[in-house]
Amino acid sequence: MPDLKTEYLGLSLKNPLVASSSPLTEDVGALRRMEDAGLAAVVLHSLFEEQISAERGTLEQDLAKGTESFAEALSYFPELDEYVLGGEEYLELIRAAKESVGIPIIGSLNGTTRGGWLDYAKMIEDAGADALELNIYRIPTDPNRSGADVEQGYVDLVKSVRGAIKIPLAIKLGLHFSSIPNMAKRLAEAGANGLVLFNRFYQPDIDLESLEVVSNLVPSTRQELRQRLHWIAVLCGRVEADLALTGGVRTSEDVIKAMMVGARVAMTTCGLLERGIGHATEVISGISAWMEENEYDSVQQMQGSMSQRSVADPASYERANYLKVLRTPHPEFPLA
Ligand SMILES: Cc1cc2nc3c(=O)[nH]c(=O)nc-3n(C[C@H](O)[C@H](O)[C@H](O)COP(=O)(O)O)c2cc1C
Repeated sequence: MPDLKTEYLGLSLKNPLVASSSPLTEDVGALRRMEDAGLAAVVLHSLFEEQISAERGTLEQDLAKGTESFAEALSYFPELDEYVLGGEEYLELIRAAKESVGIPIIGSLNGTTRGGWLDYAKMIEDAGADALELNIYRIPTDPNRSGADVEQGYVDLVKSVRGAIKIPLAIKLGLHFSSIPNMAKRLAEAGANGLVLFNRFYQPDIDLESLEVVSNLVPSTRQELRQRLHWIAVLCGRVEADLALTGGVRTSEDVIKAMMVGARVAMTTCGLLERGIGHATEVISGISAWMEENEYDSVQQMQGSMSQRSVADPASYERANYLKVLRTPHPEFPLA
């Protein structure tokens, strides 16, 4: 029987499949079912600072600003009642989960103000979370703010939160940086123990009938996996932080690929939403079966084996790959 154990954020996990943050992880009953299905850890649904009742005034002010300018723009803002759990309920969920579930519970926080990030990080730690994931979702809209300034904001935030708590800290971030490796290195130096790659960028659409902005969530596809595999392969061995892959994971093959490029864990949400929590059991037994068939003794033996760790000049390697992709015949495009 192959050894599926992996280490993530200093936590010993029985296998590399983790439930990422979603409404599924908002209920203790579902967390128990996740544990029974074999998931190795769960990240709770994010606590958004706007959810915290004391801060509600801020969101209401934002909504009011929208009304003054363009009525259409209002549809960009979420309704207050779309935020489900308040701050105290969130902390209660952590306490209840720690009492009734044996697998590690990772809190998730999405703040807006420095005070909000720090206070709630501390409260999530005190409630008993095994680790904290900061879900940083910031879309720069100010043309006068430079990329360097935006990036420094991330680094300062991670430093402050690191200074406020002792539990392991992971950062979930998007991929819109000029240099992902540099950003990853700086975040690790600022105290991030793990990087969760990548947050999806949720873009609204426009309904031409009603002339409304439609902000529905489009489920991920397995195509998204490749981008994540690529960047984890580049970062593996070059950054002092555990790498987690989120986005596009559906099957055991996807998890195996994530391990090969150097991820410590592969996370899943849409797979569980589409196929049910029980799907995790199939994925985990698929990993085991594949390893046995391909004579791998342990997940750790696979981790990073297909990363760019041993490539002396990754930039040239990337360039060569680019040329190869474009210059190879494309039978799928008969007109090319
Ligand atoms: C309905 C839904 C709600 C989500 N809520 C959160 C959230 O609160 N915080 C967060 O960091 N990610 C959230 N995510 C993103 C997922 O954690 C995950 O990163 C993303 O769906 C990509 O992974 P997947 O392809 O396995 O679904 C949510 C995703 C879905 C589908």
